[in-house]
Amino acid sequence: MVKAVVLGAAGGIGQPLALLLKNNPLVTQLGLYDIVNTPGVAADLSHISTPAKVEGYLPADDGLTKTLTGAEVILIPAGVPRKPGMTRDDLFKINAGIVKDLATAIAKTAPKAFVLVISNPVNSTVPIVAEVFKKHGVFDPKRLFGVTTLDVVRASTFVSEILGDLSLSKDVVVPVVGGHSGVTIVPLLSQSTHPLPSSLAKTDYDALVNRIQFGGDEVVKAKNGGGSATLSMAYAGAEFAFKVIRALKGEKGLVAPSYVSLEADPSGAAELTKELGQELAYFSSNIELGTDGVAKISPLGTLTDAEKALVSAAVPELAKNIQTGINFVAEASRL
Ligand SMILES: NC(=O)c1ccc[n+]([C@@H]2O[C@H](COP(=O)([O-])OP(=O)(O)OC[C@H]3O[C@@H](n4cnc5c(N)ncnc54)[C@H](O)[C@@H]3O)[C@@H](O)[C@H]2O)c1
Repeated sequence: MVKAVVLGAAGGIGQPLALLLKNNPLVTQLGLYDIVNTPGVAADLSHISTPAKVEGYLPADDGLTKTLTGAEVILIPAGVPRKPGMTRDDLFKINAGIVKDLATAIAKTAPKAFVLVISNPVNSTVPIVAEVFKKHGVFDPKRLFGVTTLDVVRASTFVSEILGDLSLSKDVVVPVVGGHSGVTIVPLLSQSTHPLPSSLAKTDYDALVNRIQFGGDEVVKAKNGGGSATLSMAYAGAEFAFKVIRALKGEKGLVAPSYVSLEADPSGAAELTKELGQELAYFSSNIELGTDGVAKISPLGTLTDAEKALVSAAVPELAKNIQTGINFVAEASRL
C-alpha cells in the first residue's frame, strides 16, 4: 500500500505525472492537489483500470490537508514554468512562495513522507523545503530529494543519438551531478556505461555537455511561450518516484542521482566534500536509496580534467543558489 501525492496535479507536468503514477500497480492511493481543475483530472484518471484509488482536491474545505493525510511519497511540480524572456530570478520569486506554503502544509500533515521537489529552481527550492521543515522540527535529510532525473534522461538520450542507436537509450546510464540548472548540471560522460566514440571531437563533446546543461532551453524555445518541459519531465519524475517507492518497499541496490542535503549521509558527504574542495549543504550525486530514503551518498570518483573544470564552475553557483533558498525562508519568517 503506497499513497503517492502530486501537488500541482492539474499542470503541464502534474497531469502526465499523475497518469504515470496511476499506471504503476505499486501505487494504491493517488492524492491530487492543485488550485484549479483537480476534480476533473481525478475523475478522468479514476476510470483507468489500475489499483490506485484517486482523489482530487482544491484549496476549499481544507483540500490540501485531505490530500496530504497518509501520504508517503509527495511530488511537487506546483508553480510557474519558465517562459521566453523570464529570468531565473522572476521564476524564483513566484515559485519560492508556492513551495514554502506547500512545505508548511507537509510539515504539519505528512512530516514523514518522502518529498520529491520538481518546482524550479530546484537548487533553491529544496533548501526552502528543508528550512521550513527545520522550523517545524521535522527535517529528516534522508527524505527530501530534488528531482534532477530529467538531466539524466537527457544525457542517456543525447549519448545514444551520438552512438547512432536510440534503442540504447534505456540502458545508457550517465551520472549527472552537481545541481539542476545551467552550469551546475555536470554530466560525467567519462563514467557513461556506453563510452562516447574515442574519435569524438572536443567541439562535439563541448556541444553535448552544453546540450545536457541547457536542454530545457530547447524545449522552452520550441514551445514558443507555451511553457517548459512537461512530458519528458513527467517521465523523469515518475522514473525517480518509482525508484523511491521500490526502495520504500524494501528493494535493495537502487541508485539514482538526486539533489539532497549532505546531512543525509555524513560519511558519504565527507568524501564528496574532499573531492569538491569546498563544503556545500546540498549536492546532486549518485544516491543509494533505502527504506528510510537516502542510504548512501556516493563520491564522484575519477574525473577527467574537463569534468573537474565543470565541477569547479558549478560549485560557486550552487553555493549562491543554496543561500538564496535559505535566505528566502529566513526573510519570510521575519515579516
Ligand atoms: N525539475 C525539473 O527538471 C523541471 C523540469 C521542467 C519544469 N520544472 C518546473 O516544474 C514546475 C511546473 O511546471 P509546469 O510546466 O507543470 O507548469 P504549469 O503552469 O503547467 O503547472 C503548474 C501547476 O501548479 C499549480 N499551482 C500553482 N500554485 C499552486 C499552489 N499554491 N498549490 C498547488 N498547485 C499550484 C498551477 O495551478 C498549475 O496547474 C515549474 O516550476 C517548472 O519550472 C521542473
